[in-house]
Amino acid sequence: MTRRAGIIGHPVGHSLSPVFQAAAFAAAGLDVVYERWDTPLAGLPARVASLRAHDILGANVTVPYKEAVIPLLDEVGGLAARAGAVNTIVNREGRLFGFNTDGAGFVAALRHEVSLDPAGRAFLLLGAGGAARGIALALAEARAAAVDIYNRTPARAATLARDLGPPARALAELPALAPYDCVVNCTTVGMRGGPDPSGIPLKLDDAPPGLLVVDIVYAPLETPLLRAAAARGLPTLGGLPMLIHQGALAFELWTGLPAPIDVMEAAARNELARREGTTP
Ligand code: ATR
Repeated sequence: MTRRAGIIGHPVGHSLSPVFQAAAFAAAGLDVVYERWDTPLAGLPARVASLRAHDILGANVTVPYKEAVIPLLDEVGGLAARAGAVNTIVNREGRLFGFNTDGAGFVAALRHEVSLDPAGRAFLLLGAGGAARGIALALAEARAAAVDIYNRTPARAATLARDLGPPARALAELPALAPYDCVVNCTTVGMRGGPDPSGIPLKLDDAPPGLLVVDIVYAPLETPLLRAAAARGLPTLGGLPMLIHQGALAFELWTGLPAPIDVMEAAARNELARREGTTP
């Protein structure tokens, strides 16, 4: 029997998940098709209910439904409940379980791509939206020593830090960079078609040697922030590994098998290159 999985969102036309999840299922020799389930809000309850069918492995959830799906599920795991956001649904014999692999995907990318274990390290996060929330939670879980949050709208950073508690802390102004091991752009600034890249006032002038500069934006692969960091000789990590690792963790939840990460990443890079080639 062919089984199915898919991504629920609105819109989902540009999602890379169908590309690298299909590659993963094929590499693992599994008869699974991964579909784009573009779902208007009114159709969300029926869409989620349809995941209980016996041929469905589960789903990914993306913008704008990571919060809205929660009341439609049977059980929501610890991190997803604390994040208030679900990006992965698993169908176990008609019961729907919600998980959040975004933050864990970020930590896995740090560990696997740049050998950074967050334990005892100091992080500066730029942004206080859903992405920043998931990452801050996962860093706290991984025993980071400091998770400082700076956001254009300070009240959102304050709310996030209050929700999380220590080691999260809200900053009213951009701090000196010397105390940090890693700075992460969790905003949409730098994204193709997104806000003006000068929107992040971060200057790397006082970056300590070896400061890891991470951008969760993956289109373009080299963002203005990463380019500036590389020009200063700082180590960098782009957003694609985080995307791949969150998908790999979802694949493992659906199948119980180790994800073929290299295959997934190669498929995603190919697709991004193809899109770059065809965009005017
Ligand atoms: P996501 O779920 O992807 O994190 P979000 O909740 O819309 O998306 O959050 C977007 C983040 O990018 C926020 O931190 C936002 O800052 P505000 O809270 O001040 O809106 C940040 N952001 C978006 N555009 C920005 C810009 N031009 N300059 C600085 N920050 C920006």
